[in-house]
Amino acid sequence: MRNEDSTVQATFNGIARRYDLMNRLMTLGSHKRWCRELAQCATSGGGDNFLDLATGTGVIARAVREQSPESAIIGADFSAAMLAMARSIEGNAGIDWQFADAHELPFDDGAFDAVTHGYLLRNVSDLDQVLAEQFRVLKPGGVVAAIETSPPSGLLGPLVRLGMRVVVPTLGTLIGRDRGAYKYLVESTLGFMGPEALRRRFERAGFTDVHVKAKLLGTNMIWTARKPG
Ligand SMILES: C[S@@+](CC[C@H](N)C(=O)[O-])C[C@H]1O[C@@H](n2cnc3c(N)ncnc32)[C@H](O)[C@@H]1O
Repeated sequence: MRNEDSTVQATFNGIARRYDLMNRLMTLGSHKRWCRELAQCATSGGGDNFLDLATGTGVIARAVREQSPESAIIGADFSAAMLAMARSIEGNAGIDWQFADAHELPFDDGAFDAVTHGYLLRNVSDLDQVLAEQFRVLKPGGVVAAIETSPPSGLLGPLVRLGMRVVVPTLGTLIGRDRGAYKYLVESTLGFMGPEALRRRFERAGFTDVHVKAKLLGTNMIWTARKPG
């Protein structure tokens, strides 16, 4: 694993315990609703094998199970602390929690009807490799549905940036108890590519029908894309 990925892994291991609460606050209570919307995109075509990458505490995996209760769902992450939290949540029973690095997935080609992930892409050292792996493990015709932060743009962009730089690390100090980790989350969002550049990366990986839907003043985006059938 590259050094950048080990640093990210240590960061998420450190904030696992309070991550869900912080996420609710940072998304103004919208995170669960977005995850349900994303899960609906992943399951609307049917199928019975789903993979939620960078699953964290399993919010998206759980939303997939709500919509497709009979299917097999794997929640995978490379943070042991996040996986421990996922395993400890009562409503998460029945989901198969596995340790996996998104750069090198331990799954067969064409294993899944859909791959979901939340807030993975801006954290990885090799985005193209991570998208190529998702493409590989999807069945032909399978979909990826994901949520990712996006740097604020437009007229309100500078104001939203300032707000994020002030509010998130403050919450990180008071509630997350780790200012540095939440400063990282803000800076990785502000430094990440915009939607047009990310669309091109999905397409370069071979995906078609790439769609994006903006949430919360464009700071969060729900992505869907298809592996050609
Ligand atoms: C911001 S959390 C999001 C968790 C969950 N998807 C959600 O929406 O609440 C990002 C997660 O991505 C995981 N992650 C980051 N890079 C990863 C990688 N290369 N492979 C696997 N998981 C990774 C982290 O360990 C962390 O649990």
